[in-house]
Amino acid sequence: MVALRPASPADAAILKRWRTEDSVGRHQPLGDVTMAQLRAELARHRPEALYRGQNEKFQWIVTADGEPAGWITLVVTNWDHGLAEFGYALATAYQRRGLMAPAIEQLLADLFLNTPIERLEARCSVDNVASQKVLDKLGFRYEGRLRGYFRLRGERVDNNLYAMLREDYLALEPRPPSAQEGSGS
Ligand SMILES: CC(C)(COP(=O)(O)OP(=O)(O)OC[C@H]1O[C@@H](n2cnc3c(N)ncnc32)[C@H](O)[C@@H]1OP(=O)(O)O)[C@@H](O)C(=O)NCCC(=O)NCCS
Repeated sequence: MVALRPASPADAAILKRWRTEDSVGRHQPLGDVTMAQLRAELARHRPEALYRGQNEKFQWIVTADGEPAGWITLVVTNWDHGLAEFGYALATAYQRRGLMAPAIEQLLADLFLNTPIERLEARCSVDNVASQKVLDKLGFRYEGRLRGYFRLRGERVDNNLYAMLREDYLALEPRPPSAQEGSGS
């Protein structure tokens, strides 16, 4: 079973380890952060502030049958307009098992039904086929190509921009089947 729980400072070690895995950083620049920086960042998070329309950064640990398998981060760029973007990754051992779609689906329900967020964006390298398939499957719309969006191993890389509006989410009928399919663990 796939579930989400808010990340805490106790997750700093596992997050640091995952960030060093080749497959996790293949399509995204993760940068070098120390355990102390990660722990301090996580200590600043206030998960409950999301429901009051406050704070900027949020992070969850994705679990598969109770075991930590990956993470999702959310950055609210503008509360007045309900704008946010999110990123995600699974540890190598948990990839290609259909786990991320049901995890994101849980997040979508929480964000669009319980918080003031109205537009959720995701970006990924144009080469990240798996990530694009997950977003397509969930009903995100492709909105365009962002040229040279980030630098990855010395090269500027184009990104694809995807977004979902609350109204898109509410119009999804039937709901994406991934919640029922999330048995890949
Ligand atoms: C991208 C990621 C989140 C996808 O989640 P996942 O649960 O592993 O994805 P799934 O198992 O549902 O696979 C989705 C699709 O991509 C395909 N796929 C998975 N990994 C792939 C790979 N490395 N190369 C090509 N296709 C791949 C699957 O076959 C599946 O295709 P289908 O829908 O046609 O059956 C996960 O692989 C991951 O964390 N990767 C490393 C970090 C990362 O890239 N994060 C996203 C940054 S934008």
